[in-house]
Amino acid sequence: MATNQTQVLPAGPQKLNISQKWAEVYLFQMKRIWKHLPESIRRLAVGQMYGRHLHARVRLHAERKQYFGTFFLRNRAELELMRRILDRKPRNSSLQMAVLACSKGAEVYSVVWTIRAARPDLRLNMRAVDISPGSASIRGQRGLFAQWS
Ligand SMILES: C[S@@+](CC[C@H](N)C(=O)[O-])C[C@H]1O[C@@H](n2cnc3c(N)ncnc32)[C@H](O)[C@@H]1O
Repeated sequence: MATNQTQVLPAGPQKLNISQKWAEVYLFQMKRIWKHLPESIRRLAVGQMYGRHLHARVRLHAERKQYFGTFFLRNRAELELMRRILDRKPRNSSLQMAVLACSKGAEVYSVVWTIRAARPDLRLNMRAVDISPGSASIRGQRGLFAQWS
């Protein structure tokens, strides 16, 4: 008896052609060998050559994507250094600052907070840019962040 049901099958792994399969097997084996190579051999010229070759193969196959990870007060050493450098600025002077690759802006807020807390007398002009559209703009400009940011 015919039924009117549609069965949704889970998507299977993508079909690879023969050369892609061989490349994967080759890479898998190379990684296995690398993991078992003692440090003393990795340090030799031949070990380093092997490592460079493996690295090139991995880069060839790796999915390359942008990482947007950031959070408030992420780089405390950088903020502390900034605070110390600020001590050299004369009172009531102005400070031009730019954060390049600011992601969603948590770093910008952290830097501004550090500067304002340490030197409220400074006239700060902060600019921030990011190459990814939507990254710096929407949430950062409105000051909207997730609780874990
Ligand atoms: C890991 S986040 C760093 C966020 C922040 N600077 C921090 O340290 O917390 C990297 C950011 O760099 C940005 N980026 C990468 N290449 C860039 C480029 N050429 N110009 C501007 N932004 C770039 C990405 O869009 C991404 O938002």
